[in-house]
Amino acid sequence: MEKTFYIETFGCQMNAHDSEKVAGTLLQQGYNQVETPEEAGYVFYNTCSIRDKAEQKVFNRLQHFKKSAGKDKIFAVIGCVAQQEGEKIFDRAPHVNLVAGSASYTRLPEMLVQLEAGNKRVTGLSLDNSEAFDTPFTRRDNPHRAYLTIIEGCDKKCSYCVVPFTRGPERSRTSASVMEEATRLADSGRTEIQLLGQNVNSYRDPSPAGWDFATLLDRVGSIPGIRRVRFMTSHPRDFVRPIIDAIESNRNLCSHVHLPVQSGSTSVLKGMQRLYTREQYMERISWMKRARRPISITTDIIVGFPGETERDFEDTLELLEEVQYDSLFAFKYSPRPNTSALGLGDHIPEEEKTRRIMILNERQRAIQIRRNSERVGAVEEVHVEGRHATLGQWIGRTEHNQTLNFSGRDDEALLGHYVPARVTRAGPNSLVGESVNQADFASVL
Ligand code: 5AD
Ligand code: SF4
Repeated sequence: MEKTFYIETFGCQMNAHDSEKVAGTLLQQGYNQVETPEEAGYVFYNTCSIRDKAEQKVFNRLQHFKKSAGKDKIFAVIGCVAQQEGEKIFDRAPHVNLVAGSASYTRLPEMLVQLEAGNKRVTGLSLDNSEAFDTPFTRRDNPHRAYLTIIEGCDKKCSYCVVPFTRGPERSRTSASVMEEATRLADSGRTEIQLLGQNVNSYRDPSPAGWDFATLLDRVGSIPGIRRVRFMTSHPRDFVRPIIDAIESNRNLCSHVHLPVQSGSTSVLKGMQRLYTREQYMERISWMKRARRPISITTDIIVGFPGETERDFEDTLELLEEVQYDSLFAFKYSPRPNTSALGLGDHIPEEEKTRRIMILNERQRAIQIRRNSERVGAVEEVHVEGRHATLGQWIGRTEHNQTLNFSGRDDEALLGHYVPARVTRAGPNSLVGESVNQADFASVL
């Protein structure tokens, strides 16, 4: 079998980062990465099972290869669908040769040896690997910014959510290991770090140092060379004041918090087993609204959870108006295997879920248009991430995680740098601007 691999990633940033670990391991083992599955000897699908639609994608891909040329390839299904479905994947797609969950990636070299030896069905499905945060070979795609896993798994039991089954129990990485990797990233020239975890703010240092999440944030943000620290995702229940204090006092911590609310109705939150009420959630929001530095707030919402009434849905719409999110991701409830919500009655018809999500997205769009238009004239510091050749614009990101594309001279040297830009136009999802000189910016700050 030719030692070439192709990897396609579905799902969240945790998965994107896992693919960097897998690709790095494969490269280290002497495999070469190719751009299409057709060219590859080994085809990896790093899968997501958060909603049924995401799960079906991998089976569609596999089906395609069953019909067309794929006989001389090794197929690997890894990630969340692999963990969830396990060996059942071999029954559903008999041409698959490897099924492995995210806790098994450090075992990948030995699994590859088994595949090369002609073993047709190899699995890595154990969830009790506490060493799986990183591999020594992680191949990071972006030279300026990097993901860093600080906590894996989840001990919450939200009734709709498959993650505790696909990523196992919660385990935090030691603060020393996080700091070591963050320092290595800074030394390699990366200036932006995104701390990752299903519930980052549930982080608890397992070593005697015993840092909490706020301390870890502050320390990572104090590493020389690090300019921006982001974190994703936070759970409202464990979102405590010291996190805001850390953001207020350390300029390198981005003033953006993604705080999924899921619903604006306390009774739906109860059914979801979210462990907070609407009022408790709003209390966290009020801390952020009162912060000395404006903090942008984004969220996730599920519409059509079993039993969600029109009144419940209206509570969610009212919450949007109250919070004024900078952006949000809305999803239609999707029943998932093993989850306790499966046992709830009163499922909402698909057309009704569609109606609700459309109304919700429309409301949010109006909020974003208004909020973004208020930014026109402001000067923002942007991290330059790329260049839009056809538009002649630089692609940048503000500390609030907003895209701000700006015109300016075509000078390679801007890539990866932090430059001031004045917002000249605003759309619902992004800002457009022009670069201003550094001296003007200093006076604005
Ligand atoms: N159905 C729909 N959306 C879901 N999410 C998680 N599980 C489900 C489900 N079963 C959404 C939540 C979560 C985001 C990552 O995906 O909003 O915050
Ligand atoms: Fe999808 Fe959740 Fe797995 Fe991420 S952790 S890939 S969102 S199922």
